[in-house]
Amino acid sequence: MRVVILPTEKEVSNFAADIIANLVKTKQNSVLGLATGSSVLLTYEALIEKYRKRELSFQNITSFNLDEYIDLKPNHSQSYRYYMNQKLFNHIDINKHNTFIPECIDGNYELSCINFELEIKKHGGIDLQLLGIGSNGHIGFNEPTSSLNSRTRVKALTKNTISNNARFFKENELQPSMAITMGIGTIMESQKILLLGLGKHKSKVVADIVEGPLSSFIPGSILQQHNNVIVVIDEHAATDLKLYDYYIHTEKMHQKYTC
Ligand code: F6R
Repeated sequence: MRVVILPTEKEVSNFAADIIANLVKTKQNSVLGLATGSSVLLTYEALIEKYRKRELSFQNITSFNLDEYIDLKPNHSQSYRYYMNQKLFNHIDINKHNTFIPECIDGNYELSCINFELEIKKHGGIDLQLLGIGSNGHIGFNEPTSSLNSRTRVKALTKNTISNNARFFKENELQPSMAITMGIGTIMESQKILLLGLGKHKSKVVADIVEGPLSSFIPGSILQQHNNVIVVIDEHAATDLKLYDYYIHTEKMHQKYTC
């Protein structure tokens, strides 16, 4: 695992956007795995900025999102389809036909999940998967005790996730408690994984996934078994890392010895 600690949210996001932009420039038909939530917002803003400056084009990019709520229509303001359109897709030249969200089609959950997996395969797999991390260790909506080999499926959300995400919903607005999520096994097949952690409230879980034991109770800890993961975090999210100084040192060495 490469652990990159940067002073601010903005620097974390610019770092992440640069990695995504470099991939998009070198492989114009890249397949990106995308996330929603607050951790990735500034990264999307930085990508939009690069697009506006004509530094890159997403015309031939395909994307697969990690998850989608069950029971929210795509045009609902809290659906992840809506989020992706508002926060990224509407502002770049990506072809929306090439943007896949694990939505339930025609009420058939099982088939929708199978088709989502098939679509990823048909596109040759995910080149780069962007991840946030839930304070309970979830990646996507793979909640604690999810099978570490799981595939795309319907998952019940924990109370912790529901209350963390309640901030996005209006009072009295229906907040779904179920979602379709890309599986952990699916995520782990990505060529490269970029996980972002921002803020003090993520410091404990960041330490758990980087330094803790591998456990389905902290699903993100599975990333220790992937050989191309970059964890990019701000200073606040790094405060519980036992080997903090070592990560600062190794990153300096990384910058020095790689081109
Ligand atoms: C979102 C997703 C979730 C979030 C996680 C962190 O598509 O899959 O795993 O990445 O809940 O959310 P934020 O970034 O809002 O703290």
